[in-house]
Amino acid sequence: MIAVDTLIDQLRSNCERPFSDAHAMPPGVYTSPDFLSLEEREIFAHEWQCVGRASALKEPGDYLTAQIGAQPIVVLRDEQMQLKAMSNVCLHRMSVLLEGRGNKRRIVCPYHAWSYGLDGELKGAPLMDRQEGFCKESYRLPAVRCEEWQGWIYVTLDESAPPVATQLAELSELIGAYGMTDYIETFYEEHVWDTNWKILAENFMESYHLPMLHRATVGPHSKL
Ligand code: FES
Repeated sequence: MIAVDTLIDQLRSNCERPFSDAHAMPPGVYTSPDFLSLEEREIFAHEWQCVGRASALKEPGDYLTAQIGAQPIVVLRDEQMQLKAMSNVCLHRMSVLLEGRGNKRRIVCPYHAWSYGLDGELKGAPLMDRQEGFCKESYRLPAVRCEEWQGWIYVTLDESAPPVATQLAELSELIGAYGMTDYIETFYEEHVWDTNWKILAENFMESYHLPMLHRATVGPHSKL
């Protein structure tokens, strides 16, 4: 297995090639567990992650769940119709609270039924009033930073990450004509790809395959 430092050097020299002589990335960046750990630390723990469309959360209590790295999170529409993201892990014994998508006015833990409000505050903890010194008011699910950009929901675990709109300012100019803010989610599917995550990202970044693979649909309309 090639060392991570070597892979980074290879990647760097690859990036220095002129665009007209672009080459694929070194194979090791797709297969090295150490390189993946580096990506988890440097990318997934720090960057904004897009987890869905704000239009999918229409009513108070509508929620969706996601995972940033190893951290389960929930994004929901609160009583004031604000988007909120928070940890999706119970403060009692760390059970995951919610799965998938749905609507809840209270988040009830499936393990021992501690219940939380849409603001993350602990509202109920069965029988815990018998525990001397237990103070329900001191428990709240940790908030996660959440922003909406062109109708997309972004979350990050990094308290100091610059706002999404700042980071994507150049993209805003490129895609402004599409009016994505007004898009409405009409269906939702979840796909798990048995591959390195970059393969999926690259597939969506290249249009080279559209005329062939998607010749019956979008292919004829694509501009390579
Ligand atoms: S783990 Fe959630 S109530 Fe016990």
